[in-house]
Amino acid sequence: MRSSSINKFKRFFKRHAYDHRSKGKLTRDSLAAGRTLFGISDDETWLRLLLRSVNEPIIDGVEMPRFPHGKVQRAFVGYHDETAIREAFVFYQHVKTFMLQLGQSLSTRSAVLDFGSGWGRLTRIFWNDVDEDCLYGVDVDPEVVSLCEMLGVPGQFQTIEARGALPYADATFDLIISYSVFTHLPEVIASDWMRELSRVAKPGAILVFTVQPKRFLSMILEIPEDTSSIWLKGLSRCKSLIPGLLQAFDNGMLCQVPTSGGTSLTDTVSDGSTPATAVSKYRGEDVYADVAIPEAFIKRNWEKYFQLIRYLDDPVRFPQAVVVCQKTGVKTH
Ligand SMILES: C[S@@+](CC[C@H](N)C(=O)[O-])C[C@H]1O[C@@H](n2cnc3c(N)ncnc32)[C@H](O)[C@@H]1O
Repeated sequence: MRSSSINKFKRFFKRHAYDHRSKGKLTRDSLAAGRTLFGISDDETWLRLLLRSVNEPIIDGVEMPRFPHGKVQRAFVGYHDETAIREAFVFYQHVKTFMLQLGQSLSTRSAVLDFGSGWGRLTRIFWNDVDEDCLYGVDVDPEVVSLCEMLGVPGQFQTIEARGALPYADATFDLIISYSVFTHLPEVIASDWMRELSRVAKPGAILVFTVQPKRFLSMILEIPEDTSSIWLKGLSRCKSLIPGLLQAFDNGMLCQVPTSGGTSLTDTVSDGSTPATAVSKYRGEDVYADVAIPEAFIKRNWEKYFQLIRYLDDPVRFPQAVVVCQKTGVKTH
């Protein structure tokens, strides 16, 4: 973004998106992990602290990462405040369990990349284990990247092109997470990013990402005609394609529901209402859709980049299927 439009955007957020429950002075040591700052040792305490931070931006003199307006949170992740954090926390805890099962664990100096970081829901959670200067986030939406910085979300956030490269050297990261992003990428884009993620992963690094499983396609058939959700409305318009896509899924193909790019942040909050269209200026229909991916597709197409460890579709624990992979090669640190 040019600097004039960044300034305009910042003014816009001061007025609309920034949540004014949360003004405070900066007291956080910008390098330490949250756990170290609070002298705590368990995930439950960290979760309670994060939930407290929804309404209490400074806790024990430490400025917590702030939350965007509820509408902005929901536009990106469907939920806001406590529900949004709890959903992501389940994912975070499972990521750590998967790592342990692979003989690894996070240290304060583990390099972690959140691919498609949105408003920083996950990096703030991983701040429990990892120092701020080792947390990285990238997103195609420059507005939400700016928002992370304005909210004081721990990590280094950068905007990337929807079809581009990552601004990191080869073999940089120990862990890469991507929640609810490959659920939206068309096949060519997803495959390009998988190759790029493999490039920046250290040998032995772990990648955990989510995908839509088959039940997502079946769910589309059940969407009521009068749904008020703009996302569901878009999916519902594609009902006639679903029988064919279900068959394609069973044949191991990536299945794209052509819903186009979702909403942009400014559209969502500018007049306080839900936008009439679902097209984002940063995520056009050539690079963004709704996508379901079967295990067989990952095995056939992406095992040259990462070894598939697990494809876990457990609706009780996760709204989307969770895929655990490991970069082949020996872990060096
Ligand atoms: C459903 S949101 C999830 C945000 C975040 N991962 C979370 O769970 O809180 C999907 C995010 O992926 C981003 N995104 C979409 N296409 C992308 C791409 N090609 N590369 C990186 N990020 C992308 C969107 O801008 C959006 O912030």
